[in-house]
Amino acid sequence: MDLKKYIAIVPDWPKPGIQFKDITPLMNDGKAFRYATEQIVQYARNKKIDIVVGPEARGFIIGCPVAYELGVGFAPVRKEGKLPRETIKVEYDLEYGKGVLTIHKDAIQPGQRVLIIDDLLATGGTIGATIKLVEQLGGIVAGCAFLIELTYLEGRKKLEGYDVLTLMEF
Ligand code: PRP
Repeated sequence: MDLKKYIAIVPDWPKPGIQFKDITPLMNDGKAFRYATEQIVQYARNKKIDIVVGPEARGFIIGCPVAYELGVGFAPVRKEGKLPRETIKVEYDLEYGKGVLTIHKDAIQPGQRVLIIDDLLATGGTIGATIKLVEQLGGIVAGCAFLIELTYLEGRKKLEGYDVLTLMEF
């Protein structure tokens, strides 16, 4: 299936010069959404995954159906101030300034094998911070899966040494 057909490219959004990759048409189509989910599930099947971790907000949308299919749990990574119990946090670089991502301290047990899922790999800032959170809790990053990779932003450089799947490249 040609998944790129289901990505809407929105010019000049959220600001001039950005060509936003909108995954909502893919989510809107049951067959395409299932196909994309199954591709990631197949990738993960032999990795002995214990838990899926996904950053807000679109990492939840892709990560949860994969966790369900694998029969494992899902742990959310959220922006600061959103998770109600004890968390750890990591700072990461945004285009302007810094962002902070957090995870509940008890979300991952040491030695658990973790699959990290997000919709999009751009600069790699979000995935880099998510990996740090997982590893600080003693998790082993067994794989990272994305629907889309924006190759020209070279986010893969931050993923050297990790096992990575991307379903579409732009
Ligand atoms: C987008 C996207 C990824 C991240 C990728 O999320 O869903 O999580 O950016 O960019 P990076 O590789 O340069 O870090 P965003 O920060 O817009 O958050 P949202 O999904 O909550 O809108």
